[in-house]
Amino acid sequence: MDSTIRRQSTTEDDITAEVLRRVDRTPDERLREIMRALVSHLHRFVKEVNLTEREWFEAIRFLTETGQMCNDRRQEYILLSDTLGVSMVVDLINHRKRDRATESTVFGPFHREGAPHLPRGANIALRDADGVPTMISGCVLDLNGNPIVDAALDVWQADSSGLYDSQHANSDELHLRGVFHTDREGGYLVRTIRPVYYAIPDDGPVGRMLRATNRHPWRPAHVHFVVSADGFEPVTTHIFDDSDPYLSSDAVFAVKESLMARFVRHDALDDAAHRFGLQPPFYTVDFDFVLQPRGPGD
Ligand code: BEZ
Ligand code: FE
Repeated sequence: MDSTIRRQSTTEDDITAEVLRRVDRTPDERLREIMRALVSHLHRFVKEVNLTEREWFEAIRFLTETGQMCNDRRQEYILLSDTLGVSMVVDLINHRKRDRATESTVFGPFHREGAPHLPRGANIALRDADGVPTMISGCVLDLNGNPIVDAALDVWQADSSGLYDSQHANSDELHLRGVFHTDREGGYLVRTIRPVYYAIPDDGPVGRMLRATNRHPWRPAHVHFVVSADGFEPVTTHIFDDSDPYLSSDAVFAVKESLMARFVRHDALDDAAHRFGLQPPFYTVDFDFVLQPRGPGD
């Protein structure tokens, strides 16, 4: 028998020490580090709040329900991570940006594979008659400001009622999604509708947690992008409407100053109306993405 293992643990601190002693035999160094920290913090948390048995059981029930809420269209655990700010802490630790490179933010649960590859200026909002047309344009650049040719921009957003295609009854149909490519000047152009603020799904345990802690479920209006190009680090990010009332209280803490853009309203048959072939009212947005080169280990 291993003489380092004691037969009895008498106090709560003995239990912590004994769990850590066993965890210390984890062969994988990184897993050992993670498990040590997890056990230490978890035990400290339970002791700090003097967790009752009822509260402990409620926590087990909450986590069980969170798992039961997950399916191929709904990821309640990611939503929990997002609403507790964990996703953004992970994002910040893992994507420290150099110089002027575009900052990343949460991926969110609504990306779908298989979006159509579309030509410059194509409309991703063909079935949304209520949204106000919006042209998003700009360039994809390297850190020196040089255009990146044939960068891919995977774009998705919610419709004018604040729902993603996968949240509708006919959820198999893709809508408000597309993959665009930059031209020879590094330029891109997407036709969509002006995004609106919307509530994250709050009919499950995460919604209960938000209400119990007096928090709202709203996300400021945004359009999602994953921008990628050969030889560069891809960036998962959003463009936020800089006039949105929820910018300072995003339910998932994902707003960064550098990702806010002005949605310019056009009410007359101006140059932009002629250039884009649009009847007013419509909006235009200018936003450049800057990619940093891939690191040696990437
Ligand atoms: C989203 O923007 O699609 C999103 C992000 C985090 C949680 C829920 C939704
Ligand atoms: Fe979103």
